[in-house]
Amino acid sequence: METNPARASEIIGLSPPDQPDPRWQVRVRGLSKSFGPNLVLDNLDLDIERGKVNVILGASGAGKSVLIKHFMCLLRPDKGHIWVDGTDVLSLNTQDLSKFRRKFGLVFQFSALFDALTVEENCAFPLREHTKKTKAEIKDIVADRLGSLGLQGTQKKYPGELSGGMRKRVGLARALVLEPEILMYDEPTTGLDPLATRNVDEMILDACQRYKVTSVVISHDMASVFRIADRIAMLNNRKILEAGPAEVIAQSTDPFVYEFLRASGVSAIGKLAGGVT
Ligand SMILES: Nc1ncnc2c1ncn2[C@@H]1O[C@H](COP(=O)(O)OP(=O)(O)OP(=O)(O)O)[C@@H](O)[C@H]1O
Ligand SMILES: [Mg+2]
Repeated sequence: METNPARASEIIGLSPPDQPDPRWQVRVRGLSKSFGPNLVLDNLDLDIERGKVNVILGASGAGKSVLIKHFMCLLRPDKGHIWVDGTDVLSLNTQDLSKFRRKFGLVFQFSALFDALTVEENCAFPLREHTKKTKAEIKDIVADRLGSLGLQGTQKKYPGELSGGMRKRVGLARALVLEPEILMYDEPTTGLDPLATRNVDEMILDACQRYKVTSVVISHDMASVFRIADRIAMLNNRKILEAGPAEVIAQSTDPFVYEFLRASGVSAIGKLAGGVT
């Protein structure tokens, strides 16, 4: 358990961000992004810790989705840099960028499955697009990922025949087929009941441990956040206001962080923060 509140200001590691670092995998410095007159991110710094569950919190519209899209260069900043394992992602040409993006897996809020394709076809899609694997190899990989997420036997079903929680697991299975190093989940539990939410939480933790991936999770569900997060970064007013180990952020004395966490669910935080009420 962290006891030093000074660690709460540990937004970034101190090593040079343009060099590979054993601890910090994604490093963002001075990131600014506007859409027309709407300045969304302003000179933002953040580091994402390798092999851990990194949660990004912030109000609706704060810019969380915009921020993580920059990690894999789905959006380009107006100013600033993003390094992943020492690679300056903004310097990559089209060909290198498409190879680089394979480091990432994305799990969206609504799973974003193709409704007209079966579960197996959905999961096989990235392998068909990005690899030269044979049909038999692809079938095996898909069966393995589905099996590890408790979805064996669903291969021939269509997304419409599955529950919301199952669809999310299929979305994760599809994100895992290319063995990404970094898995990004944008609101993976929105719209799920508490039991399904808990299943998705376990799935995130399991994927993190089993495949040794770095996880980046955007979530509004505070009970879920405190079950899964190793680190939490709070996005507010276009910047990372605080970032650090979950238990340090839970005890933050910053008025915004304190209110945000309290308003979002005291009981979950109380467990970690030693009874904040
Ligand atoms: N492609 C785009 N074009 C123009 N504006 C955009 C675009 N994408 C995002 N924005 C704007 O950027 C701001 C931040 O959006 P973003 O989706 O990152 O918020 P968020 O923190 O993910 O919110 P939520 O929790 O509701 O998903 C919003 O004002 C949004 O309207
Ligand atoms: Mg969003």
